[in-house]
Amino acid sequence: MSNAPEQHGDKTEKSEIRADGLQDAGGPAQGSKPEAGGSYSQGAKAGGQAAPEPSGLHDLTERPTAPATIAFELDGQQVEAGPGETIWAVAKRLGTHIPHLCHKPEPGYRPDGNCRACMVEIEGERVLAASCKRTPGVGMKVKTATERATKARAMVLELLVADQPERETSHDPTSHFWVQADFLDVSESRFPAAERWTGDFTHPAMSVNLDACIQCNLCVRACREVQVNDVIGMAYRSAGTKVVFDFDDPMGGSTCVACGECVQACPTGALMPSAYLDAEHNTRTVYPDREVTSLCPYCGVGCQVSYKVKDEKIVYAEGVNGPANHNRLCVKGRFGFDYVHHPHRLTAPLIRLDNVKKDANDQVDPANPWTHFREATWEEALDRAAGGLKTVRDTHGPKALAGFGSAKGSNEEAYLFQKLVRLGFGSNNVDHCTRLCHASSVAALMEGLNSGAVSAPFSAALDAEVIIVIGANPTVNHPVAATFLKNAVKQRGAKLIVMDPRRQVLSRHAYKHLAFKPGSDVAMLNAMLNVIIEERLYDEQYIAGYTENFELLKEKIVEFTPEKMASVCGIDAETLREVARLYARAKSSIIFWGMGISQHVHGTDNSRCLIALALVTGQIGRPGTGLHPLRGQNNVQGASDAGLIPMVYPDYQSVEKAAVREMFEEFWGQKLDPQRGLTVVEIMRAIHAGEIKGMFVEGENPAMSDPDLNHARHALAMLDHLVVQDLFLTETAFHADVVLPASAFAEKAGTFTNTDRRVQISQPVVSPPGDARQDWWIIQELGKRLGLPWNYGGPADIFREMAMVMPSFNNITWERLEREGAVTYPVDAPDKPGNEIIFYAGFPTESGRAKIVPAAVVPPDELPDDDYPMVLSTGRVLEHWHTGSMTRRAGVLDALEPEAVAFMAPKELYRLGLEPGDTMKLETRRGAVHLKVRSDRDVPVGMIFMPFCYAEAAANLLTNPALDPMGKIPEFKFCAARATAVHATPMAAE
Ligand code: SF4
Ligand code: SF4
Ligand code: FES
Repeated sequence: MSNAPEQHGDKTEKSEIRADGLQDAGGPAQGSKPEAGGSYSQGAKAGGQAAPEPSGLHDLTERPTAPATIAFELDGQQVEAGPGETIWAVAKRLGTHIPHLCHKPEPGYRPDGNCRACMVEIEGERVLAASCKRTPGVGMKVKTATERATKARAMVLELLVADQPERETSHDPTSHFWVQADFLDVSESRFPAAERWTGDFTHPAMSVNLDACIQCNLCVRACREVQVNDVIGMAYRSAGTKVVFDFDDPMGGSTCVACGECVQACPTGALMPSAYLDAEHNTRTVYPDREVTSLCPYCGVGCQVSYKVKDEKIVYAEGVNGPANHNRLCVKGRFGFDYVHHPHRLTAPLIRLDNVKKDANDQVDPANPWTHFREATWEEALDRAAGGLKTVRDTHGPKALAGFGSAKGSNEEAYLFQKLVRLGFGSNNVDHCTRLCHASSVAALMEGLNSGAVSAPFSAALDAEVIIVIGANPTVNHPVAATFLKNAVKQRGAKLIVMDPRRQVLSRHAYKHLAFKPGSDVAMLNAMLNVIIEERLYDEQYIAGYTENFELLKEKIVEFTPEKMASVCGIDAETLREVARLYARAKSSIIFWGMGISQHVHGTDNSRCLIALALVTGQIGRPGTGLHPLRGQNNVQGASDAGLIPMVYPDYQSVEKAAVREMFEEFWGQKLDPQRGLTVVEIMRAIHAGEIKGMFVEGENPAMSDPDLNHARHALAMLDHLVVQDLFLTETAFHADVVLPASAFAEKAGTFTNTDRRVQISQPVVSPPGDARQDWWIIQELGKRLGLPWNYGGPADIFREMAMVMPSFNNITWERLEREGAVTYPVDAPDKPGNEIIFYAGFPTESGRAKIVPAAVVPPDELPDDDYPMVLSTGRVLEHWHTGSMTRRAGVLDALEPEAVAFMAPKELYRLGLEPGDTMKLETRRGAVHLKVRSDRDVPVGMIFMPFCYAEAAANLLTNPALDPMGKIPEFKFCAARATAVHATPMAAE
């Protein structure tokens, strides 16, 4: 018998309800006038009366129920069970272990009671009871370890052991199943083994060995009820009952999205990460040496992850019960970690060879940088990098320099980077990729509410009656957040309304999908506002108490009747009316939006409409209500908060306000530029105009992410001096004079702020390769060489300084984050939890009221015509992140989505004479690429959807750089395009 350590037991037995514990809040004092400049964070937990329970909704299994304890006897002792607490959970809480197989005491998993491994005896009852499912009654007498109960459990295990593969060579000799068998001292069986199934190894990351399956149903619950992907089911009957994917398809050929929840749930090793198994996918050979809890590096959801490390390499990742993810992960978080060990990692500083001239169209093989660069010492590289920047500054003035920081880096790195540009370079020419994703959302939110942050976390969807998702595809871009939206629909009966020209996976769960015409957002949303105002569905008291400008909206919105707007947006008037009524009348409605709203020349207007919807109906500041722009990068919220923006210092304090500037001048000890700096796209234009001559790019890849790549690549090649700090030789680094090798997410400590305003701390999991260094250290070394007297000891030091000028970090300290792991700002006191819901009692504006701003219909900048008759829209695929520099170097992710592809309706393929998988030429007025085409019924006729992660067919060679006038965000979501069949032509960018 093996004494192997418990792999699942301890971890899975943590009792947890809602880790983030949504605040119990009352609604705003209707009709009362807010105090001028009143706190926008009061009340989410302070509000007196409890939020009313929305009617007509099913109860969530995890929702707290009415407090009432049940007194009963457990093994002769008087004990109490909490509301809904099972006998098993009480025993666990009091330190008594009852074996369990089909029960997983983790958030989202309901007890199923199917395996009978947890039987207990209840006095006066004829049969044994499944303790995992049974709740005690008052005065009940329960015995957990009678001979009868113990024998029954041992018999269950013995029957199951009969069918298991030989333990020593099995898929997981340390599985939860074997730990329970050990506990009951069962190692052999007297029963004959049943006929079992052979393995399925068709998936690149997960192995299916159903010979170890005990039909506990956990994987089915994981897939259907937790992640709500509905891929796994139980099929067939009796002894032939079997776990199947879709219609008993091979896992690799099924609709599995590889979230890995089933693998994390499986107690036997029947579903295993292939990385733990031998080459035959049969026997477990890999056992991690250690595990480190940190964060996922990809999206703004901010999932907490336990990284398993073997021989200083990450071999696997499991979800941790973080406040944002409740143990869940998506394919990127679970299987996308190995880019940190990729052979392309930069391990030493590089300096451009003197004889290699810069060329916009240059390509460098990241595996062989020696055609363009030579290795240098840190001393030489830093001197060269800073020397070049200094020369530009001293020769052409501070405004001839600019810096792009990173939304992938930590808050500390972002703060230090903007400080370097403002003090070391001497201007506000600092920006980052928020400009390319949510700048217009932030512009509208700042204008209306004077705060760019979300008003409620995405888990607030669990308290909503109506959920609107517009211009976002959360199952692809924020997959774990999407699971909570699906939970809200499936478990609570919330009405989900998806609004997007393209259908998506979430549409399957939606009450309505409004496939409006691309670019007609304002027409559709204004029609909804028109209905709400004409039918007096607005909240008069809320408007009177908390808003201004309603009369102007009322006046302007008259012309936007649903009847008039129907032909503009493509949604019939009756549907517009129904959706408007649903949203306005619900006790709680929440809006989520993404880059489908923001990446337009009318992105700010789109957001203004959403803000107006929430304000006129009072659907903000209460549980289940609010405005939530889903933030893209893992730290785009934090990087913006930290001041990586040309118009504002940390915490959105304007560079153009003298009093603010003077405060920062005093704090930082140096005069500051009184003018706002240039944005990402403006910087590229300024390079072409000869105004900017030197740049420092840290962890960004404008040569892939800029809306007009030819223009951007020419700009980068024109620079007198370019310093790039990154993990890999990116397309931007091709044009660099000095390349500085940085640390990956898993190699550093730092704080990161997720889309919910949740500040979380990461821990180093492994060491950087070769001579790669910590990003904060590199920025500091450059700062020193530019004359800044910096001597930070590490991220904790930087955090302390940053918190001194960022009121949003009040009551959040590095030590508190180390202790608690995550704290949501704003926080009222060092010992109080953060406010999940804000704008409860007004807004942080001078008047305390939010400003409603009407929006007019503005068409997209470049409409289809005879030459370019289709609409091109860009976005992401589930497996790849942004410009692909990380995910395309992650083995599993690249295996799942290996090549450049665009998506079109089957009708369009037919019209163009294309078969799925054929190569086509995709052109716009700015460029052309060749790539494969995939047939997708979700894409409307007349549209092409193209992911922007493929360097070999870069979407941004095609996109339109026209900017939203306020947010300065390019129109990535709409431009005129033409597709033609190019059979048998090799893929290439032109
Ligand atoms: S595959 Fe694993 S989780 Fe699914 S039913 Fe079988 S043993 Fe349970
Ligand atoms: S949802 Fe986002 S943070 Fe969570 S695992 Fe996926 S990519 Fe990572
Ligand atoms: S663990 Fe209770 S019935 Fe399976």
